[in-house]
Order: sequence, then C-alpha cells, then structure tokens
Amino acid sequence: MNTYILGIESSCDDTAAAILKNDTILSNVTAGQEVHRQFGGVVPELASRAHQQNIIPVIDAAIRQANITKKQLSAIAFTQGPGLLGSLLVGVSFAKSFALALNIPLVEVDHMKAHILAHFIRNEGRTNKVPAFPFLCLTVSGGHTQLVRVDDYDRMSILGQTIDDAAGETFDKAAKILGLPYPGGPVIDSLAKQGDPLRFSFSKPNVEGLNFSFSGLKTSILYFLRDELKKDPDFIGKNKNDLCASIEHTVVDILMDKLIRASDETGIKEVGIAGGVSANSGLRQRLFDSGEASGWNVYIPEFEYTTDNAAMIAIAGYFRYLKGEFGAQTSAPYARSRF
Ligand code: KG4
Ligand code: ZN
Repeated sequence: MNTYILGIESSCDDTAAAILKNDTILSNVTAGQEVHRQFGGVVPELASRAHQQNIIPVIDAAIRQANITKKQLSAIAFTQGPGLLGSLLVGVSFAKSFALALNIPLVEVDHMKAHILAHFIRNEGRTNKVPAFPFLCLTVSGGHTQLVRVDDYDRMSILGQTIDDAAGETFDKAAKILGLPYPGGPVIDSLAKQGDPLRFSFSKPNVEGLNFSFSGLKTSILYFLRDELKKDPDFIGKNKNDLCASIEHTVVDILMDKLIRASDETGIKEVGIAGGVSANSGLRQRLFDSGEASGWNVYIPEFEYTTDNAAMIAIAGYFRYLKGEFGAQTSAPYARSRF
C-alpha cells in the first residue's frame, strides 16, 4: 500500500507544503516572504503573520498539484523546531487541526535532520544516488553550521558545529556590509562567479577539533573595508565581484578544512552537504574537487531541496511514519537545536 505524507514547513520565512508518495515527490510548494527584504533580515512578528496568511493556500496548492485528495493522506509531518517560535506555532497548530479533522497521525520533524534527509527524496524519472550509512553531512544554513555523522535515518550525532555565527549568516552579514540585498548568500554567489577568489585574503579562525567560527571573518571583512574606504570611497563599487569571490572562497575554505578533517578522522568517505548554503556554487564545486582528490562519494541535494522546503519535512516524516513514531496533539514547538 502506498503512503502519502503531507509535509509542512514554517520555521523561518518560507511557508511550504509538499506531498510525497512513499519517497517520491508529488508536489513541493513554497511561498517566500518579500516583506522582510526592506528590513535586511527576517522580522519574526511579520513572518508569523505571513505564515498565517499563506498556510492554507500553500497546502491547498500542494494537494491539488499532487493530484490526490486529502482523504488519501496517510499522515501529516510538520517542523517542530528549531526555528522562530511564532512561525513554528502556525505550522504546528495547522498540522494538529488537520490531522485531527482527517483522523490521521501527526509526525514531528526536526528541521536540521530534515535538511540532511533531503538526500533521500526521489524524483520520478531521475536517478537518485543516495548516501550509504554511515555518511558525513555538512549542514550549512542561515542559523546553523553542523558537521554530522549520520548512522541511520534517525541516528545522527554532531561531530562539530559553529561556536558563533553560522555560514549562511556570514554570507548575509558580509552582503549587508557590501550594501547588497538580503538574503546575501545567493547574491554573493552570483557576483563571485565573475570575480577573483584570491584577490583579497581574510583571516581564518583557529578553532579546536571539528568546530567552526565565523565571527572573526566578519570582523576582518569589516576592518578591511573600513580602511580601504578611507582611501577610496568607491572601493566596494570598483571591486564588488572580487570581494564576493574572495569572501566566498574563505567561507568555503573554512568549511572544507573541517569536512576533510572529519573524513580523515572517521575514515568515512560518503560525504554530503545540505541546507541553504549547500546551494552555493563555490561550495558545490569544491566538494566535487575534494571528493575526486580524496576518493569520496559526494552527495549534493537537488537545488530545490537545499534551501528551506517542505519536501525534506515530508521525507523525514515518511521515515518516522514507517517506524510508527507519531506525535501527540500536545506536541509543542522548540526554538533551539535539539540534536
Ligand atoms: O536552510 P535555509 O534556507 O534556511 C535556514 O534554515 O536557515 O538557509 C538560508 C541561508 C541564508 O543565509 C542564505 O543566504 C543562504 O542560506 N544561501 C546561500 C545560497 N543560497 C542560500 N548562501 C550562499 N550561496 C547560495 N547560493
Ligand atoms: Zn533550513
């Protein structure tokens, strides 16, 4: 018998819903929130209100595009955390009400684990190369940077993580310093393609073990630009592409150093990346190159499953559903990572 899972994601500024038939995607709908752009970052109160407006149309669209009826749904999977509490509450409340109305199980999903499990989403007609357990996953998003050992769909342990800013946050903050729009990651990515990655060098952290730090890099960019702008007020305008390429190069260096070290220490050669920053072309290219040099099998999720989406929530929910791990109507969201 086929299993149909509705996944709901509302942890930050994207309202998303997706339907999976077993592990195969039927629909994947995301409504972004333009309202935050003018503020240069996500405004939590506005995000909750936009989720409230978007959630029903988005879920309705996901069900229609999947060409199923809501009565066919086997379970509803939703992001329980980590994320903005007000945003999560919208998804959690809707998931609970819908599951109650349809009399089907609820499945709680951790957003960071779901980013990793995005590797297992199957697309009809496309070959799907999935990682074998155990594998290493570098999960890089706007709020988290985690190096994870994945032993099974539900057995994961953090080998290292950032002690301050996340990789995505670093891209966003660097973009802000350069006067680029939010979110900065994709903008830096596209400008970096026309720039020289070795033109400028920025400080790299010296952090123990497999942990990361990015706050020093941000400060180094800030001080460097402050000095250069004193000499030439149009320094950023004249060097934008090279600045973006050099910043991206440094972030990718910091990430890859630890990923290579984790593979050396664990002997694991199945290596993937996940999360919004795994959309970055520099990081994707470097993973391929390192993979070739180190004999790794590398895994990069399809582009549409890198930044926040509900397909990853549905696949994570699917694996829990198969094990009978259901949530209760008393389920509550959580703000911080619970690995
Ligand atoms: O996973 P995600 O969509 O949301 C969180 O869970 O945080 O990640 C969003 C982050 C943002 O910081 C954004 O700037 C970054 O991912 N990002 C990128 C790219 N696309 C998104 N960073 C670098 N290059 C990209 N192409
Ligand atoms: Zn995310």
